[in-house]
Amino acid sequence: MTKWTPSSWRAKPAKHIPTDYPDADALASVEDTLRGYPPLVFAGEARRLTEKLGDVAMGKSFLLQGGDCAESFKEFHPDNLRDMFRVMMQMAVVLTYGAGQPVVKVGRIAGQFGKPRSSPVELRDGIELPSYRGDNINGMEFSPESRTPDPERLIKAYGQSAATLNLLRAFSTGGYANLRNIHKWNLGFIAGSQTSERYTELCDKITEALDFMEACGVTPQSTPQMASTEYYTSHEGLLLGYEEAMTRIDSTTGRWYDTSAHMLWIGNRTRQLDHAHVEYMRGIENPIAMKIGEGLEPDELLRLIDVLNPNNVPGRLTLIARYGHDKVAKGLPILARAVKAAGRHVVWSCDPMHGNTIKTASGYKTRPVDNILSEVRTFMQVLHSEGCWPGGVHFEMTGQNVTECIGGSARVVREEDLSSRYHTHCDPRLNADQALELAFMIAEELGSYRKGEAARLAG
Ligand code: PEP
Ligand code: CO
Repeated sequence: MTKWTPSSWRAKPAKHIPTDYPDADALASVEDTLRGYPPLVFAGEARRLTEKLGDVAMGKSFLLQGGDCAESFKEFHPDNLRDMFRVMMQMAVVLTYGAGQPVVKVGRIAGQFGKPRSSPVELRDGIELPSYRGDNINGMEFSPESRTPDPERLIKAYGQSAATLNLLRAFSTGGYANLRNIHKWNLGFIAGSQTSERYTELCDKITEALDFMEACGVTPQSTPQMASTEYYTSHEGLLLGYEEAMTRIDSTTGRWYDTSAHMLWIGNRTRQLDHAHVEYMRGIENPIAMKIGEGLEPDELLRLIDVLNPNNVPGRLTLIARYGHDKVAKGLPILARAVKAAGRHVVWSCDPMHGNTIKTASGYKTRPVDNILSEVRTFMQVLHSEGCWPGGVHFEMTGQNVTECIGGSARVVREEDLSSRYHTHCDPRLNADQALELAFMIAEELGSYRKGEAARLAG
């Protein structure tokens, strides 16, 4: 294998990286500027996440990774960040309590801007323009000016990521994440719904347990873990010029880290073995993930694993399966079997969003919640029966009261409701109620698996 450098990806073919910047020098100059900016995360934090994910790979904890499909400049607001954060905290509480396991929380946030698109162009009323590719590349408005890639957007995306991360750090360590606040995390608009009632019941039980522990002398003062949480960031490492500019040598270990996020993933459309994205990701020390789906053969997967995690470090590599509810039972078992037989340590995670997108007659992209839940359930069953740990879930969600995915048992979103609050910049996201429903479902599945394991071990 040739020598890796932060820029060795440039010699490889690359998919989904825009090549139509009108001024290549202006892009290079922005990348140079970014090279001099402070890192957004530290190497030690990324190492710690690898360790935490190592526990997930070994079946000792569960990965919760979620957030917007695409962050946007327009929806950048502290209230939106807070609402996203608290829904994730609620989901983590449900899972920790229900499954009796620690939960590793990773946001699709603070850098999740660039999008691979199915078509490079969009046609409207006979006019053809480049597709919208994410706010760090071009604008959503359908005009030639807005759709032209603008390198200055990278600087703005960096700034937004830094401010977002700053607030997330404050939320997770500044008192907001204190377990004593679990009742307060419930969002106003879901109060009174069935999931919200279930959540409140659970909070009451946890509060009782905290009262008991406090009486025994265990308090947030004596046990600081109760007053804060660890929250990590991630995004698809799509725009490699930006990632390269954020790649720095860690002074402690002398190794390269991508300091734009704790964890980066390779998308389903850019995971070719001999292409740029795999080349870049193999050289950074951060924990990485790779989307996998229909058509991927076991041999190719094993070769990718060899390149991306040659030392077989648990937690280094997460495989995010995104098949679709009706395809996962067919595609996943053979891969799980091959990885297990080869003795490779990976985190198995399920993205139940990207294989379940449909278009309604009225033209809305949506995802039926039933299919999302069904894909997660099948994913877990497949891995259980292959003797692997279904370690995590990767989902697109927002804390806002949107109507983007249809269904949900608490407050059903019907097809005719989609137009009322359809705000996404890219794919349809679960709203808070639907996300919480997903967490309860996973907790039940994991809980029953644990009981089954206990019975098996006892018997
Ligand atoms: C995504 O995660 O937003 C995405 C584009 O997914 P995939 O690479 O699985 O299609
Ligand atoms: Co998406």
